[in-house]
Amino acid sequence: MRTVLLAGSSHPQLAQELSVALGVPLGPCRIERFPDGELDVSLEADVRGAEVFVVQSLHAPVGEHLLELALIADVCQRSGAASVTAVIPYLGYARQDRRVSGREPLGARVVAELITAGRVDRVVCLDLHSRAVEGCFPRPMEHADAVPLLVEHVRATLTLPAVVVSPDLGAVKRAEAFARPLGLPVAVVHKQRLSGEEVKAQAVVGDVAGRHVVVVDDMISTGGTLVAAVETVLAHGAKGPVTVVASHGLFVGPARERLARLPLARLVVTDSVPFHGDAGFPLERVHAAPALAAAIRRLRVE
Ligand code: R5P
Repeated sequence: MRTVLLAGSSHPQLAQELSVALGVPLGPCRIERFPDGELDVSLEADVRGAEVFVVQSLHAPVGEHLLELALIADVCQRSGAASVTAVIPYLGYARQDRRVSGREPLGARVVAELITAGRVDRVVCLDLHSRAVEGCFPRPMEHADAVPLLVEHVRATLTLPAVVVSPDLGAVKRAEAFARPLGLPVAVVHKQRLSGEEVKAQAVVGDVAGRHVVVVDDMISTGGTLVAAVETVLAHGAKGPVTVVASHGLFVGPARERLARLPLARLVVTDSVPFHGDAGFPLERVHAAPALAAAIRRLRVE
């Protein structure tokens, strides 16, 4: 079946890399604004009878990127596409996958329902915050896995003896998946979140003393989790500087300033979210396109 690849405006560079990885040109799709600020989307590609993949990362402003995705999916369906798949390198609101106080919305579920509200047949997501988020989607999901790419990137520079550190309980499975191919043990930091920007950590479960540390998390947002984890493992005798690996680098609010003060050997993220300017810390970005392309290839109808 014919494949058409389209891109929203959230991450044109990654969409271009995905186009190269798949050998499928990006279809023309114009996204502008009406004078009142409303989105003005017009499809210039022929999608009739085609499998359409729409690339749109849902980082800030999430609502705008989400609406763009919905409008593109709608015009594709109305123009006769055989199917529409949303390819979402970073899924905003995925951390709102459960209610803590009971007086909050289930944000991940709301976003999943908005994405699939009628015009998206299935979804491809890269390294979800938790696998449970898949349960929020009423339509099928294909997972793109960046962990093998991140493992290979770090393997070359690993100094032994080393330990993989999960900065909180939620990231333990990811840390284990990272440590296994490297044959490394795992330690876990006990984290307590105080607010959106502040976390506290004191205890470590596992042996970090005298070892080089690789901290593994799904994302770095304000950097609070990372600062607490690095300070805690160093206080427990780990050797610095520290390597950090995360699938998604948002680097919002005080993140860059915080990370610039940390003893980091390298901080490795994928390019699921665009990055602008000088980092001020040793940032290395791994291309996510091969992982997304592999997931899309599994779905394509030959
Ligand atoms: C939390 O559950 C996540 O896995 C990350 O550890 C967290 O969201 C990172 O946020 P921040 O960088 O703001 O601490």
